Amino acid sequence: MIPVVMSGGSGTRLWPLSRKHKPKQFLNLFGDDSMFQQTILRLGGLNNSPPIVVCNENHRFMVAEQLLEIDIEKPSILLEPVGRNTAPAIVSAAFQALSREEDPVLLVLAADHVIADIDAFHQAIKFAEQQAMAGNLVTFGIVPTCAHTGYGYIQAEEKATISAVQQFVEKPDSATAEAYLSSGDYYWNSGMFMFKASVLIEEMSKFHPDIVEQCRLAVANSEQDLDFVRLSKEAFEACPSDSIDYALMEKTQKAVVVPLDAGWNDVGSWSSLWECSQQDENNNVLKGDVEIQNVKNAYIHSEHRLVSAIGVENLVIVETADAVMVASKDQAQDIKDIVAKLKKQS
Ligand code: GDD
Ligand code: MG
Repeated sequence: MIPVVMSGGSGTRLWPLSRKHKPKQFLNLFGDDSMFQQTILRLGGLNNSPPIVVCNENHRFMVAEQLLEIDIEKPSILLEPVGRNTAPAIVSAAFQALSREEDPVLLVLAADHVIADIDAFHQAIKFAEQQAMAGNLVTFGIVPTCAHTGYGYIQAEEKATISAVQQFVEKPDSATAEAYLSSGDYYWNSGMFMFKASVLIEEMSKFHPDIVEQCRLAVANSEQDLDFVRLSKEAFEACPSDSIDYALMEKTQKAVVVPLDAGWNDVGSWSSLWECSQQDENNNVLKGDVEIQNVKNAYIHSEHRLVSAIGVENLVIVETADAVMVASKDQAQDIKDIVAKLKKQS
């Protein structure tokens, strides 16, 4: 089995900590290791080959250094000249994997997840590997706790340790998500997948032969430079942009779902970071030089200066060298709109 770690996201909903030169997956948000490093360390004990990391070329030295720090030998680091979302990242990794081993099973992982119960995670992976070897596209289903509109929803044919996927809907609107939640028939898509490289390429060829062809060319014409594999700029730039969820999972008949109950969380926004972090007796998460009085349910992070807050609740306050953000915790995900506005202005 070859782990494929997708590490090319920009993480704008964690601005101003997550920045273009250092997106959230490379930050030490929980302890000494970054979420990217934790993604790989979490596999310890599973018998896997060195990982394939797919990232933007601008992050190559940070990725190489973070891999070195956790003693990962002989990784393949695939460098994207531009972001084309997750479908091209995964298909390129599949072609790269086929140049390393004869039709390996790929374990595709996001670099921005928290998983509390490693044993349960490993059990699910081992079970899923058998299903992937049998030719299925395996998804991992999380029992939903709210009508989150940032996730994919998976309707299973039956409630079992493995089930065919009846329907996969990526990021439904909130009314649809509410209906799915109350039906009790849907899982959240965890964003992790398992399949044989050949099965992925075959299925993607049915729905997006253009993506497959550009990725095949990008790998065939890539340049190897130490651990780095530079995908061909010409071929990859010409590749359509799409996520694996829309490009494949919503369309394929070969998907199955394995339920995963392992304390999974996607650290997609400030409120989910607050949720996943150790909170004090007033449900506050305080990082750095912070002084508070009569504050509840807050996430306050100071990098350079003393931050003080009095008599406030449900706030996110983040101070960095060049930006300060104050947001109501339940609207903090909308920071991505401000980041988009700032990008347009620059
Ligand atoms: N290499 C590469 N290139 N990686 C990318 C790119 C890219 O262009 N875009 C995103 N990624 C990486 C991110 O860094 C992250 O690790 C992972 O791919 C998933 O991307 P997100 O942007 O975080 O996706 P999402 O959270 O909106 O949605 C996905 O995950 C949800 C669960 O967390 C979907 O799979 C949903 O269906 C799922 O519910
Ligand atoms: Mg995500």
